[in-house]
Amino acid sequence: MHINPIYWRYAGTAINFQLEMNFYNRSTNRKEIAYVDYHQKHGRLGDAANVDQGQFGVPAFVVRCDDAQNIPPNASRRANRRKIIMKQTLTIPETFLGVGYTKDRGGLPLEAVRVPVPRPRADQVLIRVAASSLNPLEYKLADLNFFGRTPPVILGLDLSGIVVATGSAVRGVAVGDAVVAMADLNGNGGWVAEGGGEGGYALAREFLTVPKPESLSFLSAAALPMCFLSAFASLYGTVQAGDTVYIPGGGGGVGHLAVQMAARVLRAGLVISSGSTPQSTALARQSGAHYVFDYKRDDIAAEILKLTGGRGADLVFDATYSEPGFVGTAKTVRQGGSWIVLGVGPGKTTRVVETLSPVDSILAERGARHVNVNLLRYFSEPATLDDEAKAFLQRGLALAMEWAVQGLVVPHVVRTIDSTVEAINAGLQSLKSGSGTLGKVAVIVDRDLAEGG
Ligand SMILES: NC(=O)c1ccc[n+]([C@@H]2O[C@H](COP(=O)([O-])OP(=O)(O)OC[C@H]3O[C@@H](n4cnc5c(N)ncnc54)[C@H](OP(=O)(O)O)[C@@H]3O)[C@@H](O)[C@H]2O)c1
Repeated sequence: MHINPIYWRYAGTAINFQLEMNFYNRSTNRKEIAYVDYHQKHGRLGDAANVDQGQFGVPAFVVRCDDAQNIPPNASRRANRRKIIMKQTLTIPETFLGVGYTKDRGGLPLEAVRVPVPRPRADQVLIRVAASSLNPLEYKLADLNFFGRTPPVILGLDLSGIVVATGSAVRGVAVGDAVVAMADLNGNGGWVAEGGGEGGYALAREFLTVPKPESLSFLSAAALPMCFLSAFASLYGTVQAGDTVYIPGGGGGVGHLAVQMAARVLRAGLVISSGSTPQSTALARQSGAHYVFDYKRDDIAAEILKLTGGRGADLVFDATYSEPGFVGTAKTVRQGGSWIVLGVGPGKTTRVVETLSPVDSILAERGARHVNVNLLRYFSEPATLDDEAKAFLQRGLALAMEWAVQGLVVPHVVRTIDSTVEAINAGLQSLKSGSGTLGKVAVIVDRDLAEGG
């Protein structure tokens, strides 16, 4: 049969070597490992000369099925005893056909654009992308190019996939590892346009790259990085056990993860949320919110006062980017409580003009804290990305994996789309219009990889 190895490790010399190949077996629908020892003829590969010429990057090996099953039981032990003299994955192409914006502030639609596959710097890994997800940040970057990048800029910043190259200082992950990562938010992502054929590649810093647990699919894993880290940076270490927490928009990408985190991990005493559709309010409830209101119909401030005996919420986490919404949610905070807003905050959400917002005076009346949490700052203000911040974000990503595996904070993938220009544009357009957004939309960048893991 023909197999397309997801990755392979090579141990030995040019004439006596063993390959450990991880591949997706379409006949059994499972990820399998084949050990092929050239010298003992347990498999048939190209001749040894090809090793020196680096031709092992050819994407398809021919292995007879019985060869692959006829693996000596001690194959892996023998492989471990040998010194691994080379680790290599599929050939890394020079370029790939990404999806992104090609004009400064050109907005949607994004286009297919051929770009060089980047090389990792010392603290970076290069990932062959299996899956990604959509985030509002991606249409905002296309609209406003607010990092002042020179297009083309490839999007698709949430990443899961296989490490195919590492920088010289990388120690925590290795070539061949299945990982989850967030690309630098002022960098390039890994969406690939249909017809490219070579896969999608993106760089991530080592501290924003963690191993993907085997029991978590590439698709679910890729739905987590940006939204999870936003919720984590806002709530972890802030919510105290027993707190009353109000998280408006508990059916959104950030919101549904934040509700789960507050309710199931941080042991908030009462979690209140909101939405405007039956689907989003249901997701907020399913995520662990004890009360969910309709922000278009209900007087939520009055409801929260009733639920808290007239006190108000200890902590509000507002990730809705809604100026009128900010005013309403600020009124729900108790005296001395905290109002945490994701992103640039009141009066600044258009990023184009600043408007006057009454939020600060509402909070001042209550003696409440106004906290801005903004992941983008780490990338636009390098001084903020110190060792402590790096360790915090890395811990966040590692906990994202742990809590997802434990079923505590699990992304709701409402839809899965292929990484085509059309599907990505349609998905981002729908996020932008705010119509029917629910949980996360996952993007399959490499079907073989994504379905194999
Ligand atoms: N700067 C940062 O660090 C950072 C990081 C991540 C995200 N963000 C930003 O945060 C925002 C949310 O991201 P996301 O991925 O969660 O987006 P999303 O999936 O589109 O979710 C938006 C949510 O907001 C809710 N909503 C809108 N107006 C509301 C209001 N007035 N009151 C209560 N809920 C309201 C929507 O509820 P219904 O659908 O029920 O109406 C929806 O659930 C985006 O603007 C994104 O760009 C910023």
